[in-house]
Amino acid sequence: MQTVLTVTALREKLRPLREAGKQIAFVPTMGNLHEGHMRLIERAHALGDHVVVSIFVNPLQFNDKRDFDVYPRTLEEDTDKLAENGVEILFNPGLDQIYPQGMERSTKIEVPELSDILCGHFRPGHFVGVATVVATLFNIVQPDVAVFGEKDYQQLLIIRRMAADLCMPIDIVGIETVREPDGLAMSSRNRYLSGEERKCATGLYRTLQGARELILGGETDCRDIESFGMEELTKAGFRPEYFSIRQAKDLGEAVKGGQNLIILAAGWLGKARLIDNLLINSV
Ligand code: PAJ
Repeated sequence: MQTVLTVTALREKLRPLREAGKQIAFVPTMGNLHEGHMRLIERAHALGDHVVVSIFVNPLQFNDKRDFDVYPRTLEEDTDKLAENGVEILFNPGLDQIYPQGMERSTKIEVPELSDILCGHFRPGHFVGVATVVATLFNIVQPDVAVFGEKDYQQLLIIRRMAADLCMPIDIVGIETVREPDGLAMSSRNRYLSGEERKCATGLYRTLQGARELILGGETDCRDIESFGMEELTKAGFRPEYFSIRQAKDLGEAVKGGQNLIILAAGWLGKARLIDNLLINSV
């Protein structure tokens, strides 16, 4: 595997592949790779002839500077994992490659409405940071297909919307959340959990499942189920931010009828902010 550090070097590397008509599949990450990321890479292999993975811890999407400072950086282990998983190109740019004018002065991408609710409400500016870096990476890599996790469901919808609005000729593919055996969604942030908090963390998925049971059992009052979710998370030791039932297609308000729904939740356990969601496909 080759680690490429600059935009120019990456373009040179990709040009002959593109000219030969090869399909390029792209998986953007912030590193500290786990099984969830590997599943995305596996899918990228199935979708493209060549897989490019990026590792860039994007300061623009961290609304809390301390969170950015302590975010786990494990480039050596990550490089080994990528090589073992057949990735040919790792793009690992420095800040000057992504924001040559400096972060403050760079052009920003904003996807309205979708970016201001749920996680966006609690992390102002976060999704502008995400959309901006993903658009920039898309322009650098120019992939045919890009793979994202459903674990960050709001992020996935925002990127889909951005790609559609800006006529980006890129297929955006979503992959089901990869979980630990006890149900906890894999995340780089799980490493912030103490032993005791790690046990409590299973409460997040359990509560989502409980809410799904209520909906499938015929409960139609979403506000009641959301209150149930907030209470259950608190009982499990969380400081919940939101527990929300929405339409899966656009995160619009859930209304009675036959639409596909999704339950999304976020909360703090000690120093870790965890998010998760559960799709309900048949109501
Ligand atoms: P990061 O948190 O490193 O995640 C990279 C990709 O892996 C995202 O698409 C995310 O949804 C997916 N992912 C993470 N945990 C997963 C899990 N348990 N199961 C399935 N997929 C999972 O998300 C980001 O980085 C950044 O915001 C990024 C898109 C790279 C922009 O900076």
